[in-house]
Amino acid sequence: MDKKFYVTTPIYYPSANFHIGHCYTTVIADAIARYKRLMGYDVFYLTGADEHGQKIQKKACETGISPQEYVDEIVSDAKDLWKRLNISYDKFIRTTDQQHVVCVQKIFKKLYDQGDIYKGQYKGLYCTPCESFWTETQLVDGRCPDCGREVIEVSEEAYFLRLSKYQDKLIEYYNSNPDFIEPKSRKNEMLNNFIKPGLEDLCVSRTSFDWGIPVSFDEKHVVYVWIDALSNYLSALGYLTEEDTLFRKYWPCDLHIVGKEIMRFHTIVWPIILMALNLPLPKKVFGHGWLVVDGDKISKSLGNYKDPREYIDKYGVDAVRYFILREVSFGSDGLFSESALINRTNSDLANILGNLVNRTIGMINKYFDGVVENKGVLDKELDNKLINEATSLKDKVHEYMDNLEISKAVDTIFELLRSCNKYIDDTMPWILAKDENNHDRLSTILYNLLECIRIATVLLKAFIPETADKIFHQINTQNTAYDSISNFGGYESYNKVNKAEVLFQRIETK
Ligand code: MSP
Repeated sequence: MDKKFYVTTPIYYPSANFHIGHCYTTVIADAIARYKRLMGYDVFYLTGADEHGQKIQKKACETGISPQEYVDEIVSDAKDLWKRLNISYDKFIRTTDQQHVVCVQKIFKKLYDQGDIYKGQYKGLYCTPCESFWTETQLVDGRCPDCGREVIEVSEEAYFLRLSKYQDKLIEYYNSNPDFIEPKSRKNEMLNNFIKPGLEDLCVSRTSFDWGIPVSFDEKHVVYVWIDALSNYLSALGYLTEEDTLFRKYWPCDLHIVGKEIMRFHTIVWPIILMALNLPLPKKVFGHGWLVVDGDKISKSLGNYKDPREYIDKYGVDAVRYFILREVSFGSDGLFSESALINRTNSDLANILGNLVNRTIGMINKYFDGVVENKGVLDKELDNKLINEATSLKDKVHEYMDNLEISKAVDTIFELLRSCNKYIDDTMPWILAKDENNHDRLSTILYNLLECIRIATVLLKAFIPETADKIFHQINTQNTAYDSISNFGGYESYNKVNKAEVLFQRIETK
């Protein structure tokens, strides 16, 4: 088995502080990274910031600070947010990092030298006050979408990437690698909307602003957006440097997770750049949907979001993580609202998980002074059903995770927890406790519950790590390895559980 796993998020524009939409991709990638680590993979999880461009330069100018100061502030805020969300990235790449700058310059030069980049004329619609280029479709009523003023047609010297040359090779690659693009529907979208009508060469430099990486052999140009941004996946690993151990170890990337709006760049432009560089292509690009509020994508410009830390402060980090992972079927759009977050937290985290752990530990403390033993007094039908569910959990979750059906993976764990709650209702330990003769049966029941909780928690660690650690502490187990959950009975009989503490307070709403 290939034991390395390289997973990435897009690098986000630090034009404003990050919102729950950015958290969405980052938490999902984090859960995947943690899950793979749990399985024993050597994981490299990359995220970062895409810091160049005219928009950021303008924002900084409006604020009266340099672009570098501007992005420094936002990046430091983003790192704080990722820390609060328990994001376990291995590297945070910034496109202003010297290593990245040099790498992009080398890539650009190489592509130019071999004829994949050429100099031409860029024709576009330009808004002079905003200093921005627009395409016909971006205009609103024929005017600048930002300020509403008239645009003029201009043309400037620019470099272009020869996408057209690689069109057939790309189609061939799609066909011989059916798992390259997921969900599958996005592959047809790319083929029918962009590739089959004919790929246009892509403009990859600008002379109209200077907050970017200079083209090394023609310094009035800066590298424009996509060669700069996409190359982060290589530069972060030390590609084209003397210290390229990471590159040799982790490339090709196993999984790029991106929002659907930038799928095109990751499944057309990026593979073509890599083909031109003669590098192997990423194994998979997954295009997910958006979190939306009232039908609109969450975004700074729409002003429809709060700082995600407000939710973390109010409801806890794992309420936010769990919502993101569970609420939306990965690939589709999903609704975000505070009330939906509250409902999820109450229905699943407080009622199912919190309640189960609390009741189980409470009973063990009450009836056995904290120590139970697997006495093996089984009710065949009832117990075997539960035990089978517990021991098959690992494989079920694995199948879903392999298909990137994250929400289903999480829900399957909760199915076991639901079954445990039902098992308590069915076996009624409080009745058994009344008669000393039932002592061993009662001990077995509570042991079974404890073991199911342990098994579920080993897996939950990938999704809601802080809560998982609290549960491990409360049930007092050291047996937390992934390999320990295929068989039933890993919980250490005679360990003394700790005091039951509430994991998730029910959130009361008006
Ligand atoms: N800088 C480029 C990406 C370059 S990658 C080589 C960019 N940045 S961005 O700041 O606009 O972030 C885009 C990514 O943020 C999306 O692809 C998506 O992953 C995530 N999201 C931003 N808003 C989102 C939602 N409302 N919902 C879900 N994801 C969202 O494009």
